[in-house]
Amino acid sequence: MSANTRDSFTSKFGVIAAAAGSAVGLGNIWKFPYEAGQNGGGAFLVIYFFFIITIGLPIMISEFVIGRKTNANAVRAFKKMSPRTPWYFTGVMGVAASFMILSFYGVVAGWTLEYIYMSVTNAFKGQSPEDLSNVFNAFLANPVRPVMWQVLFMILTGIVVIGGIKNGIEKLTKILMPVLLLIIVVMGIRSITLGANVNEAGEVIGHSFDGLKFLFKPDFSKVDINVVLDALGQAFFSLSLGMGTIITYGSYVRKNNNLNKTAVEVAFLDTLIAVLAGVAIFPAVFYFGVAPSEGPGLVFTILPGIFQKMVGGYIWTLAFFTLLAVAALTSSISLLEVAVAYFVEELKMKRVKATIITGSIITVLGVACSLSNNVLKEFTIFGRNIFNSMEFVSSNVLLPLGGMLIAIFVGWFVKRSDFYAELSNENTFKLKFFNAFYAIIKFVAPVAIAIVFLYSVGLLK
Ligand code: TRP
Repeated sequence: MSANTRDSFTSKFGVIAAAAGSAVGLGNIWKFPYEAGQNGGGAFLVIYFFFIITIGLPIMISEFVIGRKTNANAVRAFKKMSPRTPWYFTGVMGVAASFMILSFYGVVAGWTLEYIYMSVTNAFKGQSPEDLSNVFNAFLANPVRPVMWQVLFMILTGIVVIGGIKNGIEKLTKILMPVLLLIIVVMGIRSITLGANVNEAGEVIGHSFDGLKFLFKPDFSKVDINVVLDALGQAFFSLSLGMGTIITYGSYVRKNNNLNKTAVEVAFLDTLIAVLAGVAIFPAVFYFGVAPSEGPGLVFTILPGIFQKMVGGYIWTLAFFTLLAVAALTSSISLLEVAVAYFVEELKMKRVKATIITGSIITVLGVACSLSNNVLKEFTIFGRNIFNSMEFVSSNVLLPLGGMLIAIFVGWFVKRSDFYAELSNENTFKLKFFNAFYAIIKFVAPVAIAIVFLYSVGLLK
């Protein structure tokens, strides 16, 4: 297949927009705050930063390079770079991970659609934090409604993916990012300035500043191996790494794009938005006197509460949940694209057919995830329901494992000079930190991931 027959991003901004669109999503605004909340706040944040810089960024650069060099989907990319070896299995694992991730991702994205609907009908008005928590739990307990929204969301994802790279993905993100950033900053300011919450009896229920302390003052006494594993998984999840999304997107990037810069910019923006989401949420969590460790429902109960306290709350709520749904969409299309690119190019399927088949399988898996919050609640695997199992196995196992394989592949099986040439656009510019980068990819990243794994399964103590 010649490179010309494949779609590509039209501009430099298009690449950043699409990759950032993939990275920024529910991972930043839904998953990061609840993971940080469950894992003690500040210490989790520090470990998370550490993994983003030392592991996430180098692996993102590696994925970009593999994708652009081979101009192929996640599986073919490995076959091209290392013919007649089992390395392509890394790509196969990635395709499997994309099915798993998108199954629960579509469910949570469906929740955002319900929240758009509730924003439109002004359903949050006058609700106390307990009311809001009850609203969320009642919604989750309903077997039908979340599924309905999830299916709708998956259909939307399928439509954009059928539209192809240029038309679908690029446009959507260009408008989204700046506006989303703005709203989160405004929310953060409101959240911090909530101050002390005193009830009628004069008792202090909570103070917003405690939320900032929680997020930024690390307490390492709370850290155990599970916190470290969650931070590692979250770094991979949030940056869309370890399963070929960035390989696939890299394959649509033009040869004159500076992949280093793109990766740094994407990682920076992604981390910024996660931290800002934390700044918006935790002060309000403490102000309302809610437990930060509440879990996946955290943002859905807290955020409408912040908007209640804002002038023009109706508009803010509506704008926020709409943008959150769009951010989820630009991420979900990147997940589906991995599977579709594979089905189209390896199994020689038409794009429409590939999208319908993969989308349908994922939707069915997603229905099981959704039902595990109500009728299938009792059904557990190693103590986790279906939803949590999908989330745990994909982000905490498959992604770091995929990342480790990618690092080993690049560090030990790709010729250093080949890699350098691709990353420097055939030596059109100098790579200042290449030695450090190479040492990380070759030694630090694989060893660090292996150690976290061995600890978390108890083989290392
Ligand atoms: N990074 C996205 C988010 O934060 C989710 C996502 C998109 C993803 N593509 C991925 C996660 C690939 C892991 C792998 O919402």
